[in-house]
Amino acid sequence: MKDFSSKVAVITGGASGVGRALGDALAAEGAKVVLADVDQKGLDAAVAALKERGTSAIGVRTDVTKQEDLNALADKAFAEFGAVHLVFANAGIGAGEAGDMWDYNLNDWKWGFAVNMWGVIHSINAFMPKLVEQNQEAHFVVTGSGNGAFLMLPDAPIYTATKAAVQAITETLYFQMQAKESPVKINALFPGPHVVDTGIFNSERVRPAELPGSGEKASGISSVDDMKKMMEQFGMELETTSPQEVAAYAVAALKEDKFWIRPSTDKSDEALRARLDGILSQTNPVLPNVL
Ligand SMILES: NC(=O)c1ccc[n+]([C@@H]2O[C@H](COP(=O)([O-])OP(=O)(O)OC[C@H]3O[C@@H](n4cnc5c(N)ncnc54)[C@H](O)[C@@H]3O)[C@@H](O)[C@H]2O)c1
Repeated sequence: MKDFSSKVAVITGGASGVGRALGDALAAEGAKVVLADVDQKGLDAAVAALKERGTSAIGVRTDVTKQEDLNALADKAFAEFGAVHLVFANAGIGAGEAGDMWDYNLNDWKWGFAVNMWGVIHSINAFMPKLVEQNQEAHFVVTGSGNGAFLMLPDAPIYTATKAAVQAITETLYFQMQAKESPVKINALFPGPHVVDTGIFNSERVRPAELPGSGEKASGISSVDDMKKMMEQFGMELETTSPQEVAAYAVAALKEDKFWIRPSTDKSDEALRARLDGILSQTNPVLPNVL
């Protein structure tokens, strides 16, 4: 899509981090923006900021773990603006896992899959039939992660597993749509190339009451700053990417209709290549070094 002006973009997880930055970047390109998030306060603040700059924007409180919420979001977006041209299935959480996976609280597994994987499935179910029927140029963009899609990080098995599933869903959706020769495109967004400075390390703020954790956060990391401090103890420096950089990269890549929206570094490419080489040569996995 070359021109975003007056196009309608729906973004789940739009109240914070990458989602909020995507909303801002698309607004700057003249798009109308529908932000969806479970965090009502964050949503109100993000929508107010968009409106202040003159963007047509609405916020719809949406829990992506619920199909009925996504259906209501799609209905609201089409009712408000008459069409939808960009959908970002972006909401995601990190459950803060650490230690042996067999010790994890089952609620952490359930929460991770409910948001990261089922959220994408619910978004596909709610929007794809409408986009296909609309038969106009549109993008359905799934936020995955290099962690899971490309590399297996042993410190985060739940997150990694959810994003591996998300990648399989995104790529198979791409092929299904290709077979239809529809104007609806599928794109895979991988925020990075470094850790993106967002609220994901403090996902506990939006943990549902029905899936309580074990109290003290297992990883002890609740922000990118915590992560930086932890790495400093080992004499390492953590490089970060801002959500605004991710959004700018995504908007530019969508203009070129790239499926792989994957900002990379030599180091991240090397790690991916090493994994693929290991699979092809049937050598045992080597721990990826991506930080
Ligand atoms: N931060 C990174 O380094 C990084 C790297 C790769 C991929 N990602 C992915 O980027 C996406 C955005 O995350 P972020 O880093 O901006 O984190 P973030 O915490 O800043 O934003 C995530 C948003 O999702 C919302 N959310 C959580 N549960 C929800 C639910 N049930 N229903 C609706 N909304 C919900 C949160 O309220 C929040 O506003 C996620 O899919 C994440 O996995 C992030």
